[in-house]
Amino acid sequence: MNAWTPDSWRTKTLRQMPTYPEADALQSVEAELSKQPPLVFAGEVRELKHQLAKVASGNAFLLQGGDCAESFKEFNTNQIRDTFMVLLQMAVVLTFGGQSPVVKIGRMAGQFAKPRSDDNETRDGISLPSYRGDIINGIEFSEESRTPDPERMLKAYHQSTSTLNLLRAFAQGGLADLHKVHQWNQSFVEKSPQGERYQHLADLIDETLAFMSACGISPENTPQIRETQFYTSHEALLLPYEQALTRQDSLTGDWYDCSAHMLWIGDRTRQLDSAHIEFCRGIHNPIGLKAGPTTDAEELIRLIDILNPNNEPGRLNLIVRMGADKIAGHFPALLRRVQQEGRSVVWSSDPMHGNTIKTGNGYKTRAVDSILSEVTQFFQIHAAEGTHAGGVHFEMTGRNVTECIGGAFEITEHDLAERYHSHCDPRLNADQALELSFLIADAVKQARKG
Ligand code: PEP
Ligand code: CO
Repeated sequence: MNAWTPDSWRTKTLRQMPTYPEADALQSVEAELSKQPPLVFAGEVRELKHQLAKVASGNAFLLQGGDCAESFKEFNTNQIRDTFMVLLQMAVVLTFGGQSPVVKIGRMAGQFAKPRSDDNETRDGISLPSYRGDIINGIEFSEESRTPDPERMLKAYHQSTSTLNLLRAFAQGGLADLHKVHQWNQSFVEKSPQGERYQHLADLIDETLAFMSACGISPENTPQIRETQFYTSHEALLLPYEQALTRQDSLTGDWYDCSAHMLWIGDRTRQLDSAHIEFCRGIHNPIGLKAGPTTDAEELIRLIDILNPNNEPGRLNLIVRMGADKIAGHFPALLRRVQQEGRSVVWSSDPMHGNTIKTGNGYKTRAVDSILSEVTQFFQIHAAEGTHAGGVHFEMTGRNVTECIGGAFEITEHDLAERYHSHCDPRLNADQALELSFLIADAVKQARKG
C-alpha cells in the first residue's frame, strides 16, 4: 500500500463530493481552516479509543446519537442542551440496564455534510444540485443557494466550536449530575402513557441513588456523579474540510483528524477504492464504518485490513444499518466471518437508515416499531452467536418534533406535518428516544443474564 499523507485521498475515487465552481476560493478556505485551532485534542481521542476498546471486549456499551444533519438555522442553545440532556437520560437507563459504563458520543458539533442518492434534484422541470448539508450548500431550491460555497465550511467550523464549547460546559459544569438526570427520567415516566412499563426500572435507579447517598457517595465528593465524558462524531464526508483539520500530534507523531473525536464512513462511500477509506486509514481517531444490506463479507474483511491492520481494539466500530426486514438475512454471515477472522471490532446498531419510508403525503419517516424491531434482532443475533452487542446509533433530537411515527404518544402520519423540522432524515423526538432506551435496557439486561 502507498504511503499515507493527509491529502493522499485526492488520488483515489471521489464520491459524494461537491463541485465547487471556483478552485481558488476553495483553496483559500482550506488554507484559512488549516490555521484554525483544532476542535479536539489527541489525548481525548486516545481516551475515547480506550473506552471503545472496553466496548469491543464486552465491558461497556456505546450510545451514539444526534441530528441527521445539523443546520445553521436550528443552531441555538436550547437545541444543543435538550439533545445533550436526552442522551444523558438514555445513558443512565442503559448504564443501569447493562450494569456497565456507557460511552456517550454525539452526532453533534460537526455533523453537517450529507451524502445524497442523486446529484441533482428536479422540480417543475428545473434541475439543480441536490442539497448536501449546510456545510456545502443551502436547502432552498434556487440556483444561488444550491451552488456549493466553500465559505460555508468556515461557518460550520465556527458553529462546531461554539457547540462543543457548550457541550464541554454542560458535561463538566453540573448539568450532568446523575440525580438531576434521573429526576428528568422520573418526569418522563410519570407523563408517558406507557409509564407503568418503565416505572420498575426507574424505581430501582431511585433506590440505588438513595443507597449511594446513604453510603456517603455524593455529587460533592464523587466527580463521576456530577460530571461525564461526552465525545463528538460526524461522517467524514467532506474531505477538504477534514484534511484541513487534520494535525500531527506532537507527542506521538501520529495524525489525528481534530474536527471530532470519532469519524465514520457512510454506506455510500465505503468502497475499497474510495477516497474516504484512504483518508480514514491514516488518521488515528476511532473510525466507524457503516455496514448495509449490500456489504459483502469478503469486502468487509479487506476494509478491516485497510482500516485496522494491527487489529487494535477500539479503533473500528462497525455500524450495522440493514433494516428490520433485512437484518436477519444479512447480518449473521458478516458477524460470523469477522469473528472467525479474529477481528476486534465494536458492533453497533443503527436502526434508522435501513428503515426509512415515504408516506402518502410525501414525508420521509420511520416507524418506532421498525426501529425497535431492528435493534431487538441485533441483540438476538449477538446472543445466538455469543458475541457482544456493543451499542446503538440513533438519529434523534431533544426537541418535541413529529418526524418518526409511533411510540407511546402515538404519532401518526397525519401528525408529521405539525413539527417536521429535519433538514434531512426523520429523527426520534425526546419521548421516543427515551422510550427506546428503556426498552433496550430490558434487552441488554436479558442478554447479560444469558
Ligand atoms: C447517516 O448516518 O446520516 C447516513 C447517511 O447513514 P448511511 O451512510 O448509513 O446511509
Ligand atoms: Co441520516
